[in-house]
Amino acid sequence: MQTKIYGHRGAMGEYPENTMLAFKKAIEAGVDGLEIDVHLTRDGEVVVIHDEQVDRTTDGRGAVKDMDLRTLKGLSAGSEFEDFVNYDADTWIGERIPTLDEVMGLVGQHDIELNIELKTNVFEYEGIEQRVHDIVKNHNYSNKVIYSSFHMPSILRMKAIDPEARIAWLTDKVPLWPIDHMEELALEALHISYKAILKNPGRIAGVEDRIRVWTVNETGDAARLLSHGVETLMTNYPERMMALSRTQQKKIEHI
Ligand code: G3P
Ligand code: CA
Repeated sequence: MQTKIYGHRGAMGEYPENTMLAFKKAIEAGVDGLEIDVHLTRDGEVVVIHDEQVDRTTDGRGAVKDMDLRTLKGLSAGSEFEDFVNYDADTWIGERIPTLDEVMGLVGQHDIELNIELKTNVFEYEGIEQRVHDIVKNHNYSNKVIYSSFHMPSILRMKAIDPEARIAWLTDKVPLWPIDHMEELALEALHISYKAILKNPGRIAGVEDRIRVWTVNETGDAARLLSHGVETLMTNYPERMMALSRTQQKKIEHI
């Protein structure tokens, strides 16, 4: 099994995170999937942004939950990243916070997986699971979507809404018996911090093919994780990791 590569928040090491630009760049690099974060606006729209506040990644101020979509769409999601090497004012300033619906429209043209992280570990965002589920279903993309969250009840709610939903628990520790968690809670996978895996790779023995790791940006770490046979690496640098993955695959084919 070849380890898959997911672009984390698109390609956040080189492009403005969680924007259509970053998603397109990751797709151009050939990723197997994208990882995105979702929150709910005051008027109930599902938007793709990492933080609860817009302050760090846009030119606005305030909490997503207190703003409506129209206000959010007035903010630039690219202008705060002018120290990036690839920064191009002409295109980056025009980047907006995408809706989940817009991202689904892009992803659906490329036959890649989409990991939707439900950011429900700070605010509850009542009803977000149903809203997200309905958008994914409208795009007829349920079998390519993996729902994850640090907040376990959120993914269990998703499973209750749709028993076929692919759910994964996000954690920065390797649980003592990963398989017990996965079987008991009907988790497709665990999404675990790569640092925890590298500290204790023995603990995922036998279930590597149900482990996705975040967020791996150095090729040395990635090479070790590839050798452990994890299912997916999430990275801020899709091009770099795709190149490594192709090199490793060629080596295997020559053995
Ligand atoms: O989904 C993996 C990873 O994205 C979780 O951490 O803070 O980057 O959303 P964070
Ligand atoms: Ca995330």
